[in-house]
Amino acid sequence: MRTINFGIIGIGLMGREFASAAMRWPHLTGMTVKPRIISICGSPVTPEEEAWYREGLGTITQVTTDYHEVLENPEVEAVYCAVPHFLHEQFYIDIIRSGKHLLGEKPFGIDKPANDRIMQVVKEHPEVLVRCSSEFPFAPAMQRLCRMIEEQKFGTIIEVEAGFLHSSDLNPNKPINWKRIVKFNGEYGCMGDLGMHVCHIPFRANWIPQNVRAVLSNIVPQRPDGKGGMVPCETWDNATLLCQAKDATGNEFPMILKTQRIAPGEKNTWYLTVKGVKGSARFSTKNINSLDYMDYAGGDQGWCSMDMGHETAFGSITGGIFEFGFSDAILQMWAAFLYELDHDGKPLSKFAGCVTPDEAALSHALFTAALKSHERMSVEPVC
Ligand SMILES: NC(=O)c1ccc[n+]([C@@H]2O[C@H](COP(=O)([O-])OP(=O)(O)OC[C@H]3O[C@@H](n4cnc5c(N)ncnc54)[C@H](O)[C@@H]3O)[C@@H](O)[C@H]2O)c1
Repeated sequence: MRTINFGIIGIGLMGREFASAAMRWPHLTGMTVKPRIISICGSPVTPEEEAWYREGLGTITQVTTDYHEVLENPEVEAVYCAVPHFLHEQFYIDIIRSGKHLLGEKPFGIDKPANDRIMQVVKEHPEVLVRCSSEFPFAPAMQRLCRMIEEQKFGTIIEVEAGFLHSSDLNPNKPINWKRIVKFNGEYGCMGDLGMHVCHIPFRANWIPQNVRAVLSNIVPQRPDGKGGMVPCETWDNATLLCQAKDATGNEFPMILKTQRIAPGEKNTWYLTVKGVKGSARFSTKNINSLDYMDYAGGDQGWCSMDMGHETAFGSITGGIFEFGFSDAILQMWAAFLYELDHDGKPLSKFAGCVTPDEAALSHALFTAALKSHERMSVEPVC
C-alpha cells in the first residue's frame, strides 16, 4: 500500500469532508494507495478545529495559518485546497510551483483571467497531478448512466439537461457570508459555486457548448449582515443556460444547464437527463439509488426504474444492497484522485475520474460567455 502524505489548506466545510474520508479509508477495498493527512492550514485555525483534526486523524504533525509552510514541508506530497474563490489563483499557482500534487476546489479561479493564469502554471508543470473536485458523478446509478454514454446507448442525442439546485437561500433572513459577496466569491455567483458540478459529465462525455444564452437572477438583493443591519447581496442566485452543444460526431443538440441557489423544495439536487433517439436516461440525487431509463427500438415507450444500491466504481465493504450517500460520493472521489495519482494521471475508467484542469477551463469559458449573454441579452459563442 503506497501512502501519500497530504496537507489540507482550508479546513472548513470541505476540508473536514476530506479528513473524514481519510479516516474511513479502510472502508474501501482493493486500493493500492491511501492518504495520510499530516498538515493542516486555515486562517484562523481555532482550538476546536485543531482538536477535531488532531484527535480524529492522529497523524497531524503540522498546524499553521501560513500556507507557505505547508508548501515548504518536504514530507507533504499532495495538497487538498478548499479556500474561498478569491484565493484560488495565488494558492493553486504556489502549490503547483512547489511540486505538490493538487486537488483544488471549483471554480478553480475566481474568474477566467485567474483561471487562465492557473492553467499557464499547470502547463508548465506536467509532472504535477492537478485535478478539480466534483463528487456527484460517483453515485452508482450515475456511474451506470455514464456507462450507457460510453456504450452509446442513446443513439443520436436529442437533448441534455443537467442541474444543481439548492433552496436554502429562499430564506431572506439567512445572513450573508463569503459565498454571497462578489469580492470573495466572484462575478459568476451561483455558477462559480455550482456550475462545475453540472458541467462535469457533459464535458467528459464530449458534449461541448458552442454558444450560450443565459438568464441570471438576483432574487434576494439584500441580506442580514449578522450584526443587526442589512447589506447588499449582489451575487447571482440562479442561472439558466441554454447552450447549443456538439458531440464528437458533430451532432448538435440543446443542452440546458441550471445552477440555482433558490429552487424551492430542492435541498441539494444534482441531476442529469439525457434524451436520445435510441434511449433515454435520468438520474437525480433526490432519488440517489435509482436510475430511470428507456430503450426505444419502435413500439412502446415506457420508463424503467432500477435500484442500484452500493455498486461503486471503487470497491467498498458496504453490502451491495445498501444505499449510497454524500459522504460516500466524497470517499469515491478521493479514491479516484489517489488512483490517478498512483497511475500516472489515468482514471480507473473514463467517468470514474476527477475533473481535469482543461474541463475546469472550459467551464470558465462557458460562465464568462454566460455573464456576457445575460448582460447583452444575446447568444454568445463559447468554443
Ligand atoms: N465539492 C463540493 O461539493 C463543495 C461544497 C462546498 C464548497 N466547495 C468549495 O470548497 C471551497 C471552500 O469552501 P468551504 O465551504 O469549505 O468554505 P469554508 O468557509 O467552510 O472554509 C474555508 C476555509 O478556508 C480557510 N482560509 C480562508 N482564508 C485563508 C488563508 N488566507 N489561508 C489559509 N486558509 C484560509 C478558512 O480558515 C476555512 O478553513 C470553495 O472553493 C467552494 O467552492 C465545494
